[in-house]
Amino acid sequence: MTHCSSAFSRQVAAYTNTAAHNDRLFAECAAATAAHPLLARHRAHVERHQLGYGDPAFHAMWLNLLEAAHLRFGHVEALEIGVFKGQVISLWALLARHHAWDLRIHAVSPLAGKPMPPQGLWRSLRYRLSSRFREQVAVGNFHPEENYAELLHAHFAAHDLSFDAVRLVRGYSTDPAVLAALAQDRFHLVYIDGDHTYAGALADIENFAPKVVPGGWLVMDDAAYHHPGSTFWKGFEPVARATLRLPELGFVNVINIGHNCVFQRGE
Ligand SMILES: C[S@@+](CC[C@H](N)C(=O)[O-])C[C@H]1O[C@@H](n2cnc3c(N)ncnc32)[C@H](O)[C@@H]1O
Repeated sequence: MTHCSSAFSRQVAAYTNTAAHNDRLFAECAAATAAHPLLARHRAHVERHQLGYGDPAFHAMWLNLLEAAHLRFGHVEALEIGVFKGQVISLWALLARHHAWDLRIHAVSPLAGKPMPPQGLWRSLRYRLSSRFREQVAVGNFHPEENYAELLHAHFAAHDLSFDAVRLVRGYSTDPAVLAALAQDRFHLVYIDGDHTYAGALADIENFAPKVVPGGWLVMDDAAYHHPGSTFWKGFEPVARATLRLPELGFVNVINIGHNCVFQRGE
């Protein structure tokens, strides 16, 4: 295990969680994505074909974080929970190929939508009576039914990548079969961007944070709700609340890029 200096470690060393720093870092990362032909092209493809969420700044974050993981661990096992149409894992695969990084990608996805119930009496009643339903609406937990398997294969193929190289564990991250399939796995990098309710985000933290190796990273999407700054969307309060569990599990919040909050497991 090496500890070479990387752009990411320099960003972390300089980081303070202040409005001025968060706004500047977010702008710098967006500019870095725009100035990097590979990142800019990939993000433009995502935006043109509506293949993902998030901000362009995150592409630069992934470049820096994957480089840091490569320098630190050599072989890197990386997991994404909440794949949608493959924006993040296709970017990881593209960067690994470009830099000849030894990266194995794992992905947990139901490959299915969760359509919003149609407008009408049943939905209004549910909204009024079920706090869980209200939370799911508030955190954007509904996604249209589409052929996600086909979209993922096409997304990878658009960059001359094969989705077959990804280890897909099909299902929801809380499914017993998914947890059993991943029981022995350990990861250098985990990205949690699935169920954004408090219970869902907390379950992902409880189940997957312990699988991060010492010195590895866990990135929580949509988790900057309480952070200072005014130029970026901050995500959802329930997700931010769930991340409060991470220090008890031995993680430190080392840097935040927009609403992506990066935690590192202590050694
Ligand atoms: C916000 S989208 C993810 C966006 C993606 N990370 C990106 O950057 O484009 C959330 C995705 O998580 C999936 N999802 C929701 N709950 C999940 C769970 N418990 N396990 C795995 N995936 C989940 C949804 O089907 C949806 O595709």
